[in-house]
Amino acid sequence: METNNQSKNLQKFIKSDKGNKNNKLAKLIAITSGKGGVGKTNFILNLAIAMAIRGKKILLIDADMNLSNIDVLLGIYPEYTLSNLMDELITVDKLLVEGPRGIKILPASSGDIAVMQNQKQYQQALIQVYMDLRSEFDYILIDTGAGISDYTIDFVLSADKIVVITTPEPTAITDAYAMIKVLFYRTKFPNISLVVNMAQTEDEAKNIYNKINLIVQHFLNKTISNLGFIPLDKNIKEAVNDQIPLIIKRPRSIASASIHNIGISILKEDKE
Ligand SMILES: Nc1ncnc2c1ncn2[C@@H]1O[C@H](COP(=O)(O)OP(=O)(O)OP(=O)(O)O)[C@@H](O)[C@H]1O
Ligand SMILES: [Mg+2]
Repeated sequence: METNNQSKNLQKFIKSDKGNKNNKLAKLIAITSGKGGVGKTNFILNLAIAMAIRGKKILLIDADMNLSNIDVLLGIYPEYTLSNLMDELITVDKLLVEGPRGIKILPASSGDIAVMQNQKQYQQALIQVYMDLRSEFDYILIDTGAGISDYTIDFVLSADKIVVITTPEPTAITDAYAMIKVLFYRTKFPNISLVVNMAQTEDEAKNIYNKINLIVQHFLNKTISNLGFIPLDKNIKEAVNDQIPLIIKRPRSIASASIHNIGISILKEDKE
C-alpha cells in the first residue's frame, strides 16, 4: 500500500486544473463495489452508451487488472494493451478502441504478467492516459474492479463521482458499506452514490439504499446519494452471451430503461 503522502500527491496531481473553467476537462466517474460479480462491468458499459446516445463524448477505461472484460462483452480483440504503453512502444491514441455509439474504450491488460509485476508503472500509465485525454472527452468512466487496489485507489478518490454498486444480497450490502467506510476514511468529501443492481422491485432497491445510508449517517456522520437501481433482467445474460451491450440489443428492456434513467440523472445533476 502506498504511503498516505504519496497517495495525496497523486490525487492532487489528478485533480490539478479541475478548477480552471477555461479548460474544459472530462468529469471522472469511478464505478466500484465491495463484493465482486455485482454487475459493475455490464452497468458501466451500458451507462457509457446511454450517455453517448445523449451526445456526450465518453472514454471508458477498463482498469480491472485481474478480471477485466469490457472487450469480451463487446467481442473485440484489442491490438495493444497498457503494457505496450508502459514499454513506450506506442502512444496513448493507439490504445483506444472504438465501441458502440462512438464511445472510446481503453481495454485492460488482464492476465498480463508484465502489468501484474509492475503495478506502480501501471498506475503511472493510467495517469498518463487520463492526463493526455481528459480535455478530449466530456466524461471518463473507469471500471476499477471490486475492492480497493493500490493502482486504482487514487482514481477512485479523485473522481468527481464514485458509484458503488451492490445487489440485494446481504454479503454484497455488507461489503458495499465496508467500501464506503474506507472511501470516507481515505478522503474528506467523496461524492458517493449507490446503485442497487439485480433488485426485484424499485421498493426493494430503495429500502437497501435507505438502510445503507442510515448506517453511513449513524456511524460515519456522512451521507451518500441514491443514483437508482437496475432490475434483475434475464436479457442481460443473453446480451453477454451475444457480446452485444444490452442497451443496443434490447433497448426497450426494463434494465435498459433504468440504465438510461441513471445516465439522464447524471447529466441532469451536472447541468445544475
Ligand atoms: N441486472 C442484472 N440482471 C441479471 N443478471 C445480471 C444483471 N447485472 C449483471 N448480471 C449478470 O451478473 C454477472 C456479473 O456481471 P458483471 O461481470 O458485470 O459484474 P462485475 O461486478 O463487473 O464482476 P467482477 O467483480 O468480476 O468484475 C454477469 O453474468 C451478468 O450477466
Ligand atoms: Mg467487472
